[in-house]
Amino acid sequence: MNWARLQLSGKNGLRRDREKKEVLAVKIDDVKRICVVGAGNMGHQISLLCALAGYQTVCTDISEEQLNKARGFTAQYLPERVAKGKLTKEAADAAKANLRFTADLKDAVNDADYIIEAAVEQLQVKRSLFARLDELAPPHAVLATNSSYIVSSKVADVTRRPAKVCNMHFFNPALVMKCVEVVKGPHTSEDTAELTMELARRLQKKPVLLHKEIRGFLVNRILSVLSREAMSLYDLGVASFEDIDSAVENALGHPMGPFRLMDLTGIDLAYLSRMEGYAESMNPTDMPSPCVVAKYSKGEYGRKTGKGFYSYS
Ligand SMILES: NC(=O)c1ccc[n+]([C@@H]2O[C@H](COP(=O)([O-])OP(=O)(O)OC[C@H]3O[C@@H](n4cnc5c(N)ncnc54)[C@H](O)[C@@H]3O)[C@@H](O)[C@H]2O)c1
Repeated sequence: MNWARLQLSGKNGLRRDREKKEVLAVKIDDVKRICVVGAGNMGHQISLLCALAGYQTVCTDISEEQLNKARGFTAQYLPERVAKGKLTKEAADAAKANLRFTADLKDAVNDADYIIEAAVEQLQVKRSLFARLDELAPPHAVLATNSSYIVSSKVADVTRRPAKVCNMHFFNPALVMKCVEVVKGPHTSEDTAELTMELARRLQKKPVLLHKEIRGFLVNRILSVLSREAMSLYDLGVASFEDIDSAVENALGHPMGPFRLMDLTGIDLAYLSRMEGYAESMNPTDMPSPCVVAKYSKGEYGRKTGKGFYSYS
C-alpha cells in the first residue's frame, strides 16, 4: 500500500481510499511490528512481552524519564531471567534486539502493524492520541487500547478506521498475568477481534472475548464490587487497611488484598478511573472513596511513588 499516494490523491480519491482502508484486513502472520504507546506501569512490560514473543517492538512515551525507566527495566530484567534459568541467553539477546524506545510518535508508529495504546487513563488524552495515531499509522494497522475501563467506541469515533479499533486489556504485571480481555465494540470488525485474540495467544496469554462493550469489562467490574466495599469498611473505621487485606488474602485466598493491589496498580489510576466513571454516570456512588482521594491529593500513588497505603523502600 502506497501511503503517500493515499495522502496525495484528490477529494474523491481520498474518500474511495478511506473506504478501501476500512476493508484492508490484516492477517495474524502479517503482524510483524508492534508499537506500544506509553512506557508506564503497563506499557514497559507490554513492550517487553511483545519483543520476547519475536515482534519488532517500539515503545514510545512523551516522557523521556519514563522511557529511561523502561530501558532500565529491560536491561535488568533480561539478564535476571537468564541467571534464573527462565530464559536462554539467545532469547534474551533477541528480545533486546527486537525492542527500541523513542519519544518520537511519528517514528514509532510509522510502520507499525498493530498499536497498543497504554497511556494515562484520561479520556481526552486517549481521544487526542487516537486521532494522531490514525493520522500517522499505516492504514492497515489496528489501534487497540489497554484502558482498564474506557470502551473503545469512546476513541474509535475520532479515527477513520473504527472497524480496526478495539480494547486489548492486559493485567498488571503484564509479563506475568495470563488474562487479556478483548472487547469487541459495535464498530469493531470480526477480523479485528479475531486478530487480537490470536495476537494475545501468540503473546502466551489466555484471552477472553467480550461480545459487547461495558465499562470496566469483566474483571474490573467484578473486582470493583469487592474493593468498593473494602474502601468503605476502612473509611468507616471498621478495620485497618492491613487487616482488611489480611482477611481477603487469608479467608478468600486472593493473592493480594484490595489495598495492596491498589498500591501495585496505582492509586492515581483508581482515582482517575473513578472520576471518569462519575463523569459518565453522574452517580455520587461512583466517586472515588475518601481514602483514595486523600492518597491521590498527597501524590501517594503506591509503589510507583514509594508510598501508597503501604511504604516501599
Ligand atoms: N496500572 C494497572 O494496573 C493497569 C492495568 C491494566 C490496564 N491499565 C491501563 O493502562 C493504561 C496505562 O496505565 P499505567 O498504569 O501504565 O499508567 P502510568 O501512569 O504508569 O503510565 C502512563 C504513561 O502514559 C504516558 N503518557 C501520557 N500521555 C501520553 C501521550 N499523549 N503519549 C504517549 N504517552 C503518554 C505517561 O508519560 C506515562 O508514562 C491506562 O489506560 C490504564 O487504565 C493499567
